[in-house]
Amino acid sequence: MEQSIKGEYIKIEKAVGFSLKRIRKGYSKERILRELRKFNKKLKLKGKILNEEDIFEIARNRIRAKEKFGEFAAKLFFDEDGLRYSTPPSVAEYRAKRLKTNSIADVSCGVGSQLVYFAKESEKAVGVELDRKRAYIAKLNLMAMGEDAEIIVGDALSEEIIKQIDAEIVFSDPSRPPQEEVRSLENLEPPPEKVIERYSKITSKIAFELPPQLPPERIPIEGEKEYTSLNFRLNRLALYCNELAECELSAVSIPSMERVTNEIERIQPVSDGIKDFLHEVDFTIIKAGLLPNLLGKLDLHADIVIDDGKRVILSSNTRSSSNFVKDYFVEEVCNFSFSEINDKLKKLRAGKITLRFSLPPSDYWEVRTKLESGLEGEEWLYLFKKEEKAIIARLLD
Ligand SMILES: C[S@@+](CC[C@H](N)C(=O)[O-])C[C@H]1O[C@@H](n2cnc3c(N)ncnc32)[C@H](O)[C@@H]1O
Repeated sequence: MEQSIKGEYIKIEKAVGFSLKRIRKGYSKERILRELRKFNKKLKLKGKILNEEDIFEIARNRIRAKEKFGEFAAKLFFDEDGLRYSTPPSVAEYRAKRLKTNSIADVSCGVGSQLVYFAKESEKAVGVELDRKRAYIAKLNLMAMGEDAEIIVGDALSEEIIKQIDAEIVFSDPSRPPQEEVRSLENLEPPPEKVIERYSKITSKIAFELPPQLPPERIPIEGEKEYTSLNFRLNRLALYCNELAECELSAVSIPSMERVTNEIERIQPVSDGIKDFLHEVDFTIIKAGLLPNLLGKLDLHADIVIDDGKRVILSSNTRSSSNFVKDYFVEEVCNFSFSEINDKLKKLRAGKITLRFSLPPSDYWEVRTKLESGLEGEEWLYLFKKEEKAIIARLLD
């Protein structure tokens, strides 16, 4: 660990702790910044890369990072965008294990959430980052996690940087604009096609993190498209080029690591009958276009009962055994009328009901309260809607 940075790291950590204490006490931002200026003067932190505003932002983001980073949040450093686009630890660990090698370069490393895991898994890791502050934050994060990697500040597409990189695998998780009607590759920075063009003289093993909203057919680069689910939600999309690809399309579920690929024999879902069980399919599988392969893997002959663009619900007479599927037992099917549903819920000794159909978010609690009126039971049930029918179901473990 470089001695000078280690010294700064200790001081910055103290300044972040100082701000965090005051944020928790409910002090105003102005007051915290005023006190922080004096504190930093004492620490001789003035004139360094991070100013008081940055330190305040890092402290505030430690609180926000808890959901994504759990216990690690208390020692990590994030600017606002750095946190938004950072890779969650379990996904970063999975990616680093899959790309384990002698030397890896993360050429758009941001605050380094992924780079920390590359450094852990591979012999040697290098990060490149255009933004000077963020590159510095990445260094702090490496220290916080006890990992070592070189960080180079600059444009990953420039000759000057490329000639400093000697890596077996090149990885890039490019920036994307926060708002975009339809996700595409065009607005990513650095653009993946340019990364391939510039880095293929160093290695053919190149991988990307792309916006997961992109369906496979809208990715014009060849390679394995791997849709990643974190806790039953579509979280990431990786593209592995050339030798890094193991198939054309895949989906992986974290933390179980269950995997489905396009090479598994397909079973097509059939008509539309409601049977004993409902199967809610992780949207990751739908996005990847791997539903028939998942059914093939599970040998599940199921009917599609709901496909409203947001969720796909299947039905069959057997339970499934997959982390990509949540199973429900069908308790009742009736007309979609408030009084009829409420009657059935009372008979089923329900206390609460989760609505699993599309309705405007502003209406959710009004509808739910109406359906739950007079319920005194213990059961927590789920309500699905298929055209004019209501399906009341119980979630199975
Ligand atoms: C999505 S973030 C990376 C997040 C990172 N994987 C993580 O887990 O924390 C993308 C980063 O790429 C950087 N970037 C954009 N264009 C770049 C370029 N041409 N060279 C180097 N870095 C670049 C941005 O500044 C941003 O910090």
